[in-house]
Formats: sequence, C-alpha cells, structure tokens
Amino acid sequence: MSFNQQDIFYLSKTLELAEKGRGMVAPNPLVGALWTSDDGTAIWGEGFHQRYGGAHAEVWAIEGKESEGVSGGTLYCNMEPCVHTNKQTPPCVDLIIRKKIQRVVIILTDPNPLVNGDGLKKLAENGITVSALERIDPQHHLVQAAKKQNEIFIHFMQKQRPFIHLKWAQTLDGQLATSSGDSKWITSEAARKEAHRLRAKYQAVLVGTNTVITDNPKLNVRYGLGDQQPYRIIIGTNNLREIPYPLQILTDELKERTLLFNPADFPSLHCMLVEIGKQKISSILVEGGGYTLTQFLKEHLADKITVFIAPKIIGKGLGIDSLGIEKMSDALVFHEQQLQLKILDNDHFIFTGYPKY
Ligand SMILES: NC(=O)c1ccc[n+]([C@@H]2O[C@H](COP(=O)([O-])OP(=O)(O)OC[C@H]3O[C@@H](n4cnc5c(N)ncnc54)[C@H](OP(=O)(O)O)[C@@H]3O)[C@@H](O)[C@H]2O)c1
Repeated sequence: MSFNQQDIFYLSKTLELAEKGRGMVAPNPLVGALWTSDDGTAIWGEGFHQRYGGAHAEVWAIEGKESEGVSGGTLYCNMEPCVHTNKQTPPCVDLIIRKKIQRVVIILTDPNPLVNGDGLKKLAENGITVSALERIDPQHHLVQAAKKQNEIFIHFMQKQRPFIHLKWAQTLDGQLATSSGDSKWITSEAARKEAHRLRAKYQAVLVGTNTVITDNPKLNVRYGLGDQQPYRIIIGTNNLREIPYPLQILTDELKERTLLFNPADFPSLHCMLVEIGKQKISSILVEGGGYTLTQFLKEHLADKITVFIAPKIIGKGLGIDSLGIEKMSDALVFHEQQLQLKILDNDHFIFTGYPKY
C-alpha cells in the first residue's frame, strides 16, 4: 500500500509527539500516536508515552476525552503497537481491535527480534489494514529519522547490551586534563550546560575510579529535560568505600543510584555491559577519564562519540591512551553521513559521530 501526503504528514507528527517523552521513558522506546477520522480531516486524539510503566502513546491517543464514543478511523504511530502480555500495561493491539480502528499506519516495526511484526500480524488477522513505511521505503527520510530518534531502544533490543556513548572534553591539542590531573574547567559554562543536556538523555553515566577520586563529581543532571536522574556507574578495582573523605556519589540524595562494578569480575567489558543491561539500563554515557575511554575504544564498544573541544593548548597532559594503532590507515573513523559539528559560544566545537568498525 502506498503512503499519501496526509499519511506522511501525520507520521511526522508522531515523531514530534514521541520526542516529548525523552528523558522519562527509558528503557522503553519514545512513542507518539495520533488518531484521525477516515478521511483524515479530524484528529480524534493524540498522545505520547510519558513515563516508564505508564500508559502507552496509543492509549493516550485512543482513550482521550475528545474521542469518547468514536470508533473506526486511522491510527498513526512511529512504532508498531505492542502485542506482548509480559508488560505492566495491556497490549495496545487489543485496544485498537476493540475500538474497530480501520487502518494502522506506522513508521517502524518493533525492533525486538522476538516481536518483529507480530503486532501488525495480529491487527491484519483482525481485518485491519496495516502499513509500515519501513517495509515499503526503507530509505525514506522519516524512517531514518525514526531510527535515529529511537537509536538507543533499537540498539538495546538487537544487541542486548546498553547503547554506549563516549563523551569527553578536550583542549585543541587533545588533552583531557593537565599532567597533574586538573581538568576544571577545560570548556566554558555554556559547553558544560550542553553536556548536562546530553547527560539527561542517558539512563546512566559511567566513569572510572580515578575520576571519582580526583574530581569527586556529582554526576547528576542539573540542566536538561525529563525528571529521571541517571544511574552513576563507577568501574574499577579500587574500593571507593574506603576513601577517607566523603564522595558525593556515595553520600548524596541519589546514592541509591550509584552502582559500583569491578571489570575484573567479568571476562570482558562487553560481558559487564550485558550484565548492566539485565538491570534494564539501556544507555550509558561514558564520561572518562582517559583510561576508561581507552578501554571502551579498544574493545570497539563505543556506539557514538561526542567530543567537546575548547580553544586551549596545554601540551602533554592526560589524554586517550595508546590504542595500538601504528598506521594512519588503521585510525578509527566515522560514518561520514552521520557526522555533526556544532559551534558553541563562537569558540567551542562539539563533534559527534558514529564510529565505523
Ligand atoms: N576532560 C574530560 O572530559 C575528563 C572526564 C573525566 C575525567 N577527566 C580527568 O581524567 C583524570 C582521570 O582519568 P584517568 O585516566 O586517570 O582515570 P579514569 O579513567 O577515571 O579511571 C581509571 C580507573 O578506572 C578503572 N577502570 C576503568 N576501565 C577499566 C577496565 N576496563 N578494567 C579495569 N579497570 C578499569 C581502573 O580502576 P582501579 O584502579 O580502581 O582498578 C582504572 O585505574 C582526572 O584528572 C579527571 O579530572 C577528564
């Protein structure tokens, strides 16, 4: 079935609705839904998934006040309606069938390999016309935008380990701290606020023990969206509970959200991440220091990298360690079409890219 302009318009609206849940629904996906009359001239309801454990977007769209007593019509959604019964909420496909909705138009099928397409199948078996843009035109810009929007969820479903985003701040000559360990501050206040906004999009922040001992950071979100504070994951063998001064991550009001992991307890960092994923943590922003970042780079575990670059030069300090790369042709490079460069404050740069392994 082809998609008309109205379908594309309403599907793009589902992405805008879905975005409103960012920072609040993890590890669930960002989902937006819109219910219209058959001819599309009236919007009967719209909604988005607002918080983890709460009603799904389809429920907000279908059971809203404006839609009382209405049935039939078309339901638009950025992702395939759920069919599973092992959730805290009932499956959305049953609600759609009950409401006698005629058409369901979506962008993406459920990326969970165990579910993939089952929601659409059940709807079709009940006489509902279903269309997935991803199946008809996988290169469509809305399909690409929908995948990017839910890159964390899709990754988590397919790889069963958290999405790893490496982030650091460096001087123009690539240093993360001076040789004495001082890194406050490499970047400007505006850049640091931007870093907080990035943190707010992740379920957990991870650093190595040296950063905790040297900087005694809070690792919380002070600017950004949503109301979820990230978990603080600290890795290392050093027992932080024996440090003779109070560490903020172990004593503040979020101390229950601090998780200590010893990588030596696992065969590899990858195995450690799988274990973290079992705790329903689907995304981690790895913030340093250099040693920790190096380990993630060495094991090809960085799914995305953001570097804040300040216009300063300090000469040799602390940076990313050797990755054992001898030839420039072996350098870690990025998918060209996914590189972003942003200029902040007229002098700071933010580089974001997806490594190509
Ligand atoms: N510019 C930035 O963006 C930025 C960000 C963060 C920190 N910093 C600066 O960086 C400096 C600290 O960096 P750093 O490189 O010395 O230390 P780090 O990466 O913070 O911590 C290193 C420690 O983490 C543990 N660790 C990390 N990955 C591990 C792995 N795969 N396996 C086993 N243990 C692992 C080990 O702890 P154990 O020794 O306990 O085993 C290791 O000694 C500080 O000066 C801080 O200010 C800068």
